[in-house]
Amino acid sequence: MDVLFGRNKKEQLEPVKAKVRGQIPPWLQGTLLRNGPGMHTIGESKYNHWFDGLALLHSFAIRDGEVSYRSKYLRSDTYNANIEANRIVVSEFGTMAYPDPCKNIFSKAFSYLSHTIPDFTDNCLINIMKCGEDFYATSETNYIRKINPETLETLEKVDYRKYVAVNMATAHPHYDAAGNVFNMGTSIVDKGKTKYVMFRIPAEVPEAKGKGKRSPLTQAEAFCSVPSRSLLSPSYYHSFGITENYLVFLEQPFKLDILKMATAYIRGVSWASCMAFHPEDKTYIHVIDQRTRKPMPVRFYTDPLVVFHHVNAYEEDGCIVFDVIAYDDSSLYQLFYLANLNQAFEQNARLTSAPTLRRFALPLRGDQNAEVGSNLIKLTSTTARALKEKDDQVYCQPEFLYEGLELPRINYSYNGKPYRYVFAAEVQWSPIPTKVPGLEVLRLSDRNGKIGGQEGDASLGQDKLEVVMDCPRKGAVPKAVQLGQEARAGIYPLMSLLSTSCVPQCGRTQVQGPPKACTLSSMEGTTYYVLALSDGTHCFFKNDF
Ligand SMILES: [Fe+2]
Repeated sequence: MDVLFGRNKKEQLEPVKAKVRGQIPPWLQGTLLRNGPGMHTIGESKYNHWFDGLALLHSFAIRDGEVSYRSKYLRSDTYNANIEANRIVVSEFGTMAYPDPCKNIFSKAFSYLSHTIPDFTDNCLINIMKCGEDFYATSETNYIRKINPETLETLEKVDYRKYVAVNMATAHPHYDAAGNVFNMGTSIVDKGKTKYVMFRIPAEVPEAKGKGKRSPLTQAEAFCSVPSRSLLSPSYYHSFGITENYLVFLEQPFKLDILKMATAYIRGVSWASCMAFHPEDKTYIHVIDQRTRKPMPVRFYTDPLVVFHHVNAYEEDGCIVFDVIAYDDSSLYQLFYLANLNQAFEQNARLTSAPTLRRFALPLRGDQNAEVGSNLIKLTSTTARALKEKDDQVYCQPEFLYEGLELPRINYSYNGKPYRYVFAAEVQWSPIPTKVPGLEVLRLSDRNGKIGGQEGDASLGQDKLEVVMDCPRKGAVPKAVQLGQEARAGIYPLMSLLSTSCVPQCGRTQVQGPPKACTLSSMEGTTYYVLALSDGTHCFFKNDF
C-alpha cells in the first residue's frame, strides 16, 4: 500500500492518446482538469501525510472523439524549493520542514517569527477553481496558483490576502449560474478578532480604462463575516453549503489551536498536530442571508461532529434543508499518514466513526408561539427535527440517510436546489489498487417523502460500479453500467458520474466548452476511465500510458 500511496508519479508532458471504447460524440470538445498529490519523496526526505504530496495536474483533452492525456507537476514555489534542495524544505500540513540544514537556534528563532501565522505553502493540490476565464490550482491556504489549462504550465502565484482578509480558504468554492464564485476563509487574529469571512469573486469585471483586462480576483468582495467563538481556536472546515439565498456554515468542534501552531515550528511538530476534536463542544450552524449579508440571529446547533464535505443545500417550504457527510470524531485524517498506509492498512486502519450522510432542516422563520421542546420542522420529506429551546436556541437533529459514504458529488446544475441523487464512493477502507471500490448511488428523499433504494449494480470482478443520472425527467429509470464493457445507451438528458477512487478524488472536475453536464472519472491505481455523456451514453477508455 505504501508503494501505491507513497510512490512518486511520473509526469506525462507530451499528450498521449487514450484508447477509447465506445464512441465520444463529436460535439463533446473540451479539456477536463484534475488535481491531486503525486510526489511524496524528495531525495531522502518523505512527507508524513498522504495529503501533503506535491500537486500533480492532470489534463484530459477531448476532441473529435479522441482523448489525450497529459500531466505535469505544479511548479509552485514549494515544488521548486524542494527540488532545488533535493529534500523537503517547505512545511505542509502534516509535515514540518526546516529550510536550514543545521536547524540551529538562530534560524529557529527567525523562522518562528515567520511561522506565527504560518506563511503557508503554495503546493495547491486539492482542486481546480475557475474564476472568469482563468483557472487556478487551489488548496486550503491563502495561496492559489494560476495555471494554463491547455499546457498545465504554472503561472502566477496569487495571495488571497491581497484581495480578501483571509489566512486560509476552502478548496471547495461554489458557483452560481453566471459563474460567480462564492467561497469562505478564516481571518486569524486580525485586529484582535478571528472570524470566518464569506466572499464573492465575480465572473466578469469591466475593463479598466488604460489597464486592459483585469482578473476577477481584483473585484473579490467580502460580503459577510461570522465571528469565531474562540479567538485562538477557530474551526477547521473543508466546505460549506449554499442555497439560492443562503450560505450554510458549520462551526464544528474540530479546531485549530493557533497558539500551538505558532510554536509548532520550534517544537518540531506538524500543524496537523495542532488540530483537535472537542467532543464536549457543540456544532454551531450559521446561516447567512445573501440578500441582507447578515447571519440569521437564531442560534442553531447540533451535536459535536466533523464534516469534510457538504453534499447540497436547498430551500423548501420555509426551511433550509442541507445534506452533509458527517463523522462523530476526527479519526479520518489520522488514517492517511503514510506510516499507516502499509500492507496492514486493510486490517489495522479502521475509522472509529463511519461517515454518514445526514440531512438537517432549519426553519427560516421563528415561531414565537411554539412551545419550548416543540419541533419547528413541518416538512414531510424529512424526519430531521429542529427543537425550540430557551433563549432563541434551536437544537437540530438530523435524519440519517446512509452510512458509509464519502466524496459526494451531485449534478451541479442542481446545486442549491432540491435534488434527487448523490453520487459517492462507498467507504470500505480497503484501498487495494487493483480493485474498484463500490460506488453507492442513492436516491434521496424526494419531495413526496419517498425514499428510493439502490438501483441494480454491475460488476468488475468482485467489485461493482454503478452510474445513475440525476434526471429532471420524472419517471426516467437510472441504469447501471458495467466497467470495462461498452455501456448501454441511457435515456437521460443529463449525466453525472462519480469517481470511485477511494481517497484523493475530491477535486472538482472542469470541462471547458459544451456540454456543461459532464464528468470524467479516473480510478487511481487502475487503468480505467469512464466518461458519461449528457445524451445518456457512456464511453470507457483505458489508461495505458
Ligand atoms: Fe474535498
